[in-house]
Amino acid sequence: MPSSPPRNPLKSTGNNGKLGDHHPVNSLHAAMKRHGGFPRLSASSKALVLLPLVLLAFIFFFVYPKEFELQAMMSACAPPATGAYAASSSRLAEPAVVRKPDFRLLIGVLTRADLYERRHLLRMVYGLQLAPGNNLTAHVDVRFVFCRLYKDDQRVLVPLEILAHGDVIILDGCEENLNGGKTYTFLSTVAALYADEPYDYVMKADDDIFFRLPQLVDSLGAMPREDMYYGATIPCDSMDPFREYMAGMGYALSWDLVEWIATSEVARNHSVGTEDMLTGLWLRIGGKGKNRFNAKPAIHDYRNPVPVDQCEHEFMPSTIGVHRLKSNPRWAEALKYFNFTAGLQPSKFYKID
Ligand SMILES: *[C@@H]1O[C@H](CO)[C@@H](O)[C@H](O)[C@H]1NC(C)=O
Ligand SMILES: *[C@@H]1O[C@H](CO)[C@@H](O)[C@H](O)[C@H]1NC(C)=O
Ligand SMILES: *[C@@H]1O[C@H](CO)[C@@H](O)[C@H](O)[C@H]1NC(C)=O
Repeated sequence: MPSSPPRNPLKSTGNNGKLGDHHPVNSLHAAMKRHGGFPRLSASSKALVLLPLVLLAFIFFFVYPKEFELQAMMSACAPPATGAYAASSSRLAEPAVVRKPDFRLLIGVLTRADLYERRHLLRMVYGLQLAPGNNLTAHVDVRFVFCRLYKDDQRVLVPLEILAHGDVIILDGCEENLNGGKTYTFLSTVAALYADEPYDYVMKADDDIFFRLPQLVDSLGAMPREDMYYGATIPCDSMDPFREYMAGMGYALSWDLVEWIATSEVARNHSVGTEDMLTGLWLRIGGKGKNRFNAKPAIHDYRNPVPVDQCEHEFMPSTIGVHRLKSNPRWAEALKYFNFTAGLQPSKFYKID
């Protein structure tokens, strides 16, 4: 089971050993003791000795206090605190006006360790939406979820990400195959990891879906907090959330359902198979999910030139999530449509035509 990363490596690495390193002072002190202290000085020579010291102190503490801070910062030449992203994004998620969030949402992006570039994109896409000026009314945490690392380079590069961002969950006991039980392992692991500070909803999301967090938060905020199953209904031509299940692109479960899945024999016995279908199956067998909400058409697939089913259609101003953004050009198209970078200010540092 992954344990949460240490909160602040600066504290543990920055000053270690430095505090005990005052040997020069200590030995001077000892020498002074051995020689019975300073030779006796007249009042005027004392003043002569002290004056430059006082002046120096004055200069350092009052004239250049900033330089001191700067040096302190530079000497602690370590990356930002572990979990900087996580810590700052959760800090950022809090509105400027301090106000209790309406609910807490965990978005687990199920992805593979090797997809570094996609995670870089997703961190920006979600990190920017969590910025304080956006005034999200919910507390949202985004975590990237893998099964066990299986290559030596991953065992270095993923720790690098964890140190820098602190937003990774590595599951034990699953294989990197969405239909091999990863969702079951994710949900049951999350139930244990966050048992002390549960979320209201846990969302399973793909790494090729773009969620517009303000729209998602508005939509989820209106839902019951219990026994709730939310997403885009399958089959594509059905709008009935009770008919089958929610598409795996992104669906949310209330915390009580996550706990139930973690402990239910029904889920454990049917953990391997088409992951989104199984989630629907568990709830059906268990008689769970009395509150269901179909977010179609606002959660939808990217529209292919020749549409293959009714899950896909064009971007809409009311879109909550777009799925099947499998390439950078598609991400760019989506982000452009939703004016995601429209706030960029002109600058002498770049020209973007
Ligand atoms: C967030 O709230 C601040 C202060 O009330 C306001 O100025 C700002 O326009 C809001 N931002 C958005 C994106 O609504
Ligand atoms: C789960 O599987 C075990 C072993 O096959 C069986 O004994 C048990 O009845 C099953 N439970 C459910 C709820 O299906
Ligand atoms: C993007 O900005 C344009 C121009 O201001 C506006 O007409 C359009 O409605 C915006 N699109 C969305 C999805 O907000």
